[in-house]
Amino acid sequence: MSTEFLVQLKGITKRFPGVVANHQVDLTLRPGEIHALLGENGSGKSTLMSVLTGLYRPDEGEIYIGGQRVHFRSPHDAIKAGVGMVHQHFKLVDTFTVAQNVILGDRRVPFIPSMSSIEEEIAQISSGYGLAVNPRAYVWHLSVGEKQRVEIIKMLYRGCSVLILDEPTAVLTIQESRQLFANIREMAAQGRTVVVITHKLHEVMEIADRVTVLCRGEAVATFERGGFSERDLALAMVGRDVVSKVEKPAARKKDVVLDLQDVYALNDLGRLGLRSISLTVYGGEILGIAGVAGNGQRELSEVVTGLRPVIRGHILMDGVEMSGEGPRGFIDRGVAHIPEDRLGAGLVPGLNAVDNLILKEYRRKMARGPFLDRRGAESNALDLIGRFGVRLSSLYNPVKYMSGGNLQRLLLAREISSEPRLIVAVYPVRGLDIAATEAVHRLLLEQRAQGTAVLLISEDLDEIFKLSDHIAVLFEGAVTGVLPAAGADAEEIGLLMMGSRKTEEQAV
Ligand SMILES: Nc1ncnc2c1ncn2[C@@H]1O[C@H](COP(=O)(O)OP(=O)(O)O)[C@@H](O)[C@H]1O
Ligand SMILES: [Mg+2]
Repeated sequence: MSTEFLVQLKGITKRFPGVVANHQVDLTLRPGEIHALLGENGSGKSTLMSVLTGLYRPDEGEIYIGGQRVHFRSPHDAIKAGVGMVHQHFKLVDTFTVAQNVILGDRRVPFIPSMSSIEEEIAQISSGYGLAVNPRAYVWHLSVGEKQRVEIIKMLYRGCSVLILDEPTAVLTIQESRQLFANIREMAAQGRTVVVITHKLHEVMEIADRVTVLCRGEAVATFERGGFSERDLALAMVGRDVVSKVEKPAARKKDVVLDLQDVYALNDLGRLGLRSISLTVYGGEILGIAGVAGNGQRELSEVVTGLRPVIRGHILMDGVEMSGEGPRGFIDRGVAHIPEDRLGAGLVPGLNAVDNLILKEYRRKMARGPFLDRRGAESNALDLIGRFGVRLSSLYNPVKYMSGGNLQRLLLAREISSEPRLIVAVYPVRGLDIAATEAVHRLLLEQRAQGTAVLLISEDLDEIFKLSDHIAVLFEGAVTGVLPAAGADAEEIGLLMMGSRKTEEQAV
């Protein structure tokens, strides 16, 4: 084995304001291996590889290639040294051809390049690795899979021996993923090192020679092929031994508030985003939706708030068929929404607190004939702000100047004050500090105690365990399992999050 392209990361620490994205990470990439970098969202995978490829400078730590210490100041430096990365968002110019994109930014290319010889070279790389793409095609004609191949060819054209692919299958169909894996195997067979960043266990099982697991910015384990099971990976990834629990009175199971029956919906790409979802949320109960982001959470939150149409199946609110209704219909049935995007979908950034607080209610309460009752609106705002502990400098400042925690309280104040039957809360504490997080959790539990049904979508398993009565797990748009929260263990949920089905017999 040649050691020319042995890559060693030693003690890499990378901090961003308020977060340690990588902490003292050691990682070795052997020439010619397929190395999976596995971890939950936010565990620091992209950051670590961006440090390796010169996009970020580490705060601490050293990088060695072939035993030589290197200091990359840009991705150009890294590529020159043979290390290239294909990011999650492609960086191609639509109006250029494949060949033009491949040479774009390549400093070795002469000022007036001979396109035909470049196209010839691309065709050779393309056939050498099975990366089918026409060098003369315009990028805007290409499928997502083809665009990805262009990005890979671009790195190979520049002579990269170490290729890093950041969540490469996230945008691909199953068939395209299979094709990509064949390409990856071919590259490794020809001596290149390929790093595959992923959060999917089955991909690691399928392709990796070795796998390093990141958890909360730290490399917690490295396994060799044959020396790990899905269970080992899930446990390392989820990485929590103690799950915090709050004492909460048992839910009094009463009426079915929200009932989804065999629901299908499309995602923004026009593919199936939700498949055969059947879920029930009872009054006085919190149903937690666990899963790695991007597995249908957004689509789910949108179909139950009328923002996304259902293409098959039924959504019932208190027994009333809702499929076909828009957001207004859902609001009128008592559905409150704490959206993922507080300052986009939730609140209007340029409006003040008073106006934001009456956005949904004005038709019912605040109308005085055709006019808005300003004084009523103001006293409504004062009342809610007091009850929900929102801190603001003025009622009439645009809300975009408020802190995250206060914005979330304002949003909750508005949604809860409508006395909803169902609250759909999507990542409700994302970006909040501990105090604000506690406040939001308390409000949701209070709602539960009052008999409101809550659908809680979160990536944070601790939060899910803490609040939920039942936990449903989403994977690739389908529910892989629904379990009572009491007695559920993080390991099992971790496996379901990675696509093992509850019904499947699990190997011991
Ligand atoms: N450019 C950035 N600025 C600030 N914080 C960042 C930046 N990039 C990543 N982070 C934070 O660093 C942590 C690790 O992120 P990332 O490396 O993207 O994780 P992963 O790729 O495993 O999902 C997260 O908490 C993320 O919010
Ligand atoms: Mg990432």
